[in-house]
Amino acid sequence: GAPIEVDLTPISEGQVIKVTWRGKPIFISHRTKQEVEQAQSVKLSQLPDPQTDQERTKPGHEQWLVVIGICTHLGCIPIAKSGDYGGWFCPCHGSQYDDSGRIRQGPAPANLPLPPYRFVSDSKIEIG
Ligand code: FES
Repeated sequence: GAPIEVDLTPISEGQVIKVTWRGKPIFISHRTKQEVEQAQSVKLSQLPDPQTDQERTKPGHEQWLVVIGICTHLGCIPIAKSGDYGGWFCPCHGSQYDDSGRIRQGPAPANLPLPPYRFVSDSKIEIG
């Protein structure tokens, strides 16, 4: 499949949208300053699949989180802005991800994966 471009301008702060890339759901989250600070302040020792928020975002674009929306347990599509960690809740077996898409609770073994993407400009990304 060809890469897709997504214009970020219509996504307001605090909002998450879903697009499709190669048949996969991709969540794009425009995080608030508070969400970014919270995600960055989590200690790696609290994480089942330790990854810093910086490793999961692009430098200078930390307000944007782009993840593949497929639960790493058995592949359900988790619900954005739900659960106890400000991120995603998987209705299938209760896995909870934080606002960096990192697994925090439940049976899923790993963080939500990141698709390959890059910033074409401050307000546009290319996924793929
Ligand atoms: Fe998400 Fe099982 S598929 S918790």
